[in-house]
Order: sequence, then structure tokens, then C-alpha cells
Amino acid sequence: MVSQPIEKKPVGTSGLPFIGSMVDFARNPIQFITGLQADYGDVAAFSLLGNKSVLVSNPHDVERVLLETGKRYDNGKQTGSHTMETILGNGLVTSEGDFWKRQRKLIAPSFHHQSIKKYAEQIVTYSQDLAATWQNGAVRDVHQDMMTLTQRIIMKVLFDVDVRDNTGEASEAFDAMMKAMGAEQTSIEAILPNFIPTRSRSRMQAGVTYINGMLMEIIEKRRTETSTRHDLLTMLMETRDDEGQPMSTNQLLDEIRTLYLAGHETTATTLSWAWMLISQNPDVYAKLEAEVDRVLEGRAPTADDVGQLTYCNAVIKESLRYYPVAWITRRVPLEDVEIGGYHIDKGTFVFLSPWVLHHDPRWFDQPERFMPERWLKDKAEQPMREAYIPFGGGPRVCIGNGFAMMESVLILAALVQQFHVAVLPEQRLDIELAGTLRPKFGLNAKLTGRGG
Ligand code: HEM
Repeated sequence: MVSQPIEKKPVGTSGLPFIGSMVDFARNPIQFITGLQADYGDVAAFSLLGNKSVLVSNPHDVERVLLETGKRYDNGKQTGSHTMETILGNGLVTSEGDFWKRQRKLIAPSFHHQSIKKYAEQIVTYSQDLAATWQNGAVRDVHQDMMTLTQRIIMKVLFDVDVRDNTGEASEAFDAMMKAMGAEQTSIEAILPNFIPTRSRSRMQAGVTYINGMLMEIIEKRRTETSTRHDLLTMLMETRDDEGQPMSTNQLLDEIRTLYLAGHETTATTLSWAWMLISQNPDVYAKLEAEVDRVLEGRAPTADDVGQLTYCNAVIKESLRYYPVAWITRRVPLEDVEIGGYHIDKGTFVFLSPWVLHHDPRWFDQPERFMPERWLKDKAEQPMREAYIPFGGGPRVCIGNGFAMMESVLILAALVQQFHVAVLPEQRLDIELAGTLRPKFGLNAKLTGRGG
């Protein structure tokens, strides 16, 4: 029997002429996509600036799209995104096809379980350095502290460089780039042609120039060194293609800038949300402190403790469910495809949102409750695997996910051991969607030493 081609088109909203739903999307993206799913179901059509778009929200369909990326779908990061191109160049997040495959194969071993274990000690030492600057009774912006800490860690891991007291300018440059990314998704800039120089675009360009300068300095210095180091930068500098050629300096810059950018704010923000969520749930916090004290018995955490700190792991997993910092992604079909029984044209923007999946009561019991316990149940009773995608999935799954989990658990344990961090309830806690989902005004917390 010959199967009939699927003709059914997804229903949804067409929005305004030309700009489509851009205004609603820009005003409150999370409300817009959540409403879209609620109103039109798991394959909901909309339009953004003339681009046909669908939001896919059934976990099985989402999994299929993720798995078929590279075959029937482009990763789609560069499609129509000048900002992404400027910030990330042709690095691992943005590249496509055989080129991406080769680079991924090259970089992946550095993030394998055995390779990352060696960074545990450094992560803990740097966390303890941070704790040494904290004072009993003080109020700190812990989001800023998490940013500085994870930045120091990623610089050490990637480049074997310690930027202890020198993260200020890099942070500013980073912030400008993230804001530009957010502006492109959620403001009037989305409809302005690329050649129009807005304030955020010039700040972004200045940010890229600053970060490139910083990384170039590291590369140049490395080229003059006689001893060999065993970090990711050395490996990328020593690699040769089939013709025996090294990676061009521009490509090297794109790859390391991508890893530097993708590899610290995501973890920092996840930790910030974790501090907030445990502060709002004292019973969870008490269990966390009890586990840390029981497992560590007053000594510093090590890589081998990560697996023993099961509640700590569950707190991070649940924080990533509640606030998935990479709240939305998209793919672009290379041919006409079928999703959830609907015909989707080639070139449509196919949006997948961890936020929508993670807050859907069909897949998560009481999704608005912060319950690390849901991850401690027997496997069969845990939430549906396909509905939980904080690190994406398929061939383009986050290359740093194992590292990010280990890093988050170790930082949390090392700091929980020494201080009680109570995020102040009376502050303004807006979410900023600047590339990632992060606390807009920082996160002030009162610190109380635990007398260790
Ligand atoms: C909690 C922390 C993190 C979260 C939530 C996160 C999330 C994600 C997600 C959702 C994707 C896939 C995006 C998509 O499918 O469109 C991704 C990709 C990626 N992430 Fe992460 N990430 C984190 C930490 C890291 C770290 C620590 C690194 C590196 C040091 C990293 C490097 C990358 C890279 C290079 C990609 C692109 C992979 C590819 O396309 O081959 N991430 N991340």
C-alpha cells in the first residue's frame, strides 16, 4: 500500500502583516510560547517577521527533530541571525554539516567523563577562594559571584590561565553580547536591517573585539612557549587537517570564543536559580545541608563525591527543569517533513522550548513546585526522559553537559558546606531573556557562616 502524503497544516496565529507575532513574542516571549501551546496544541503555527514558524511541544516529536538534526534538519543557528554569526562565528554552536562533524569529533574527547574529572580539584579550590571572600552577615550579589567564579573556572579549563582578579572587563564585554542576542530575539532590533548601527549592536561589536583581543593574547603567548600544556587550546592548535594544515587563526578564535561563551554563563545562571529556589524552599535547603555534611564530614568535596551527593544532583537537575537557562532553540527542515501528523514546509523555523516542556503538567507532576525528590524516585516513576531537555538532545546535545553538572554540584556542595545563602525575598526578581534566561537585577543574598 502506498502511504498518502500528509497535507494537514498546523493551525495557529498569523499575527500582524509582515511582522507576524513579533510584538507579542518580544513583549513576553515565555508568555507568548506558553499561550501558543495552550491555544493551538503541540504543533502550533505562527509567523515571525515573515518567517513561517511552528512551536513543537510533544516530547516524542521534539526528540525526533533533535535526533534528525544534521539529516533532515539544519541546526539553524545562523539562519537569519546576524548577531549569532557576529558573536559565535563558525564555532561549534553555529557550524553545520561535515565541518561541524569534524570539529565536534575533535573537541568531544576533552569533555569525556575521564577528561573532566581532573578539573574537580580546581573547581573546588576556586569555590573555596570565593567563600574566603564572603563574610558572615554580609549581603552579596550571588549571581555576580557565580559569574566571576565560573568564568575563572572556564578560563583555567580551556586555556590554563588564572584570571582571578581580572574578570571585570571580560564580564562587561560578555554582558554586551548577551544583551545584543536578547535584543535580536525580543526587541525592535529584530526588524531593523543588519547594517543599521544601534547602540546594542555597537556594544556587541566592541564586546566581540575585546574578547577576541583577550583570546588572541593567550594564543600568541602560547605560540612562544616551549613547554607543552595539555589543555583544549593546545589540542586545537596542534590539530592538522587531511592536507596537514593547522586550523586557521580565525577558526581557532571562533571555536575557543564559543566554548568560553557557552561554557560559563549557563552554569553560573543555573546556580543562581538554584540558590533562589532552595532559599524559597527551606525544607529542600535543610535536606541539602544535611546531605553535604553527612557525605563530606567537613572535608573538601572531590570528583568521587559527585556521585554520592545524590540530593545535590537532584537540586541542580530540578533547577534546570524549573529555569532551563537555554529556554528555546530552533531547527530548520532541509526538506518538507511531517511532525505530529502535520505537514511542515522546508525552511520553516521549528521552535522547541525546554521551558514549555518542563512546565507542562502532562509530563511533570505539579510543574510549578520545586521538587528535587522527583529525580530520586525509581527510574520507572521519574518524569518522562524525552520531556526533560535542558541540554538539548540528539547529535547537537550540549557538549559540556557532563562538565556543567559536575561543576554545578561541586560548587554548590563546597559553598553550602561553608555558608547558608539566603536569597532575599524582598528584592526585584525579574527574568531577563538576554540570550539565556537570567535574573535581570542580580540576586542579593544574606550569607551566614556555618561555623565549619
Ligand atoms: C548548565 C549549563 C549548560 C546548559 C543549560 C547548556 C545548554 C545547552 C543546550 C540546550 C545546547 C543545545 C542547543 C541546541 O540544541 O540548539 C547546548 C549546546 C552547546 N553547549 Fe551547552 N549548556 C551548558 C553548559 C555548557 C558548557 C560548560 C559548555 C562548554 C564548556 C557548553 C558548550 C556547548 C556547545 C559547544 C554547544 C554546541 C554543541 C553542538 O552544537 O555541537 N555548554 N548547551
